Amino acid sequence: MSDDRLRAQRRLDLGLALAGEGDYAAAVEALQAACELAPDWVEAHFALAENLEKLPECRLQAETAYTTCLSLDPTDRMGARIRLTLLGAAPTPDRLPAAYVEALFDQEARRFDAKMREKLNYQGPEAIAEAVSIILPQLTHPARVLDLGCGTGLIAPSLRLAAGRLDGLDLSSGMLVQAVATGLYDSVRQGDLLKDAWLIDEHPYDLIAAGDVLNYIGDLAPVFQSASAALSPGGFFVFTVEAGEDTQIELGEGHRYRHGDTRLRPWIAAALLDLISLERRVLRQEKRQPVYGLIGIARKPVLSIDMGLPVPHFDQKTV
Ligand SMILES: C[S@@+](CC[C@H](N)C(=O)[O-])C[C@H]1O[C@@H](n2cnc3c(N)ncnc32)[C@H](O)[C@@H]1O
Repeated sequence: MSDDRLRAQRRLDLGLALAGEGDYAAAVEALQAACELAPDWVEAHFALAENLEKLPECRLQAETAYTTCLSLDPTDRMGARIRLTLLGAAPTPDRLPAAYVEALFDQEARRFDAKMREKLNYQGPEAIAEAVSIILPQLTHPARVLDLGCGTGLIAPSLRLAAGRLDGLDLSSGMLVQAVATGLYDSVRQGDLLKDAWLIDEHPYDLIAAGDVLNYIGDLAPVFQSASAALSPGGFFVFTVEAGEDTQIELGEGHRYRHGDTRLRPWIAAALLDLISLERRVLRQEKRQPVYGLIGIARKPVLSIDMGLPVPHFDQKTV
């Protein structure tokens, strides 16, 4: 590490300590010094932007600092674009940046289960388990099942009950390490559900489940299209989303999207899936308040029209 970078690190540490004490003006001074010493250091610019945001008179400077982060790191690992959106300085993006989501969950992976279940009372596994019990009598046996955005595998036990084969797909290798440790998956792959293929060797799935993952995507049209393409005739797509109040795509302060049923229904219909049910229930707590979700079950018609949707072959990457 160069001398300047070492000095910048000290200023950054000082800035974070001052911010921890609530002295944002002093924190900003220390962080500006860090950025001057290491102008290419995205973490320093991000910390500066976050602290400028705390000072109402520095809002424009905060926007400039977040914009600097984006130019230093176009993959947006720190999530600067979301901050600009929440500041009203950028339009709502169609999705959260993959690099940001990956870094976030890599960091959270080891404490994820305890935090979600004990602290946030996450009810996704129960919601998915109920949906699976509803469709079980009509599900092909043994079923090929895909857990989309499988994370550490919290919903895997209910899927395993229905599955002859259970595959997991997730962006975060840290989460996948935990998923493998459950011993419940036949395979897990690292991939982006918006970019990478869902199928292995072109075998369609009888059930695809997406628990608490569609919250990281604003425009779900391509997700329902991919689900339709990846399901066998009569196959089911079971998913959760956080519930939105209106017809807009909303990005909440927790950096997750919310969806309303007036937006979901046309996406599902356009993908030629039949919506079987869409139920509202509490999914988790946030700041001690209930977070409502929608639990959806959609089905590919048994006799489906071939729309020529591509079912790409997956170049397998197993963790
Ligand atoms: C809140 S966790 C939920 C995990 C699990 N489904 C559950 O219910 O406990 C969200 C997971 O979705 C993954 N994820 C988010 N966006 C993704 C994407 N575009 N492609 C694949 N995985 C994604 C994250 O890496 C993370 O592991």
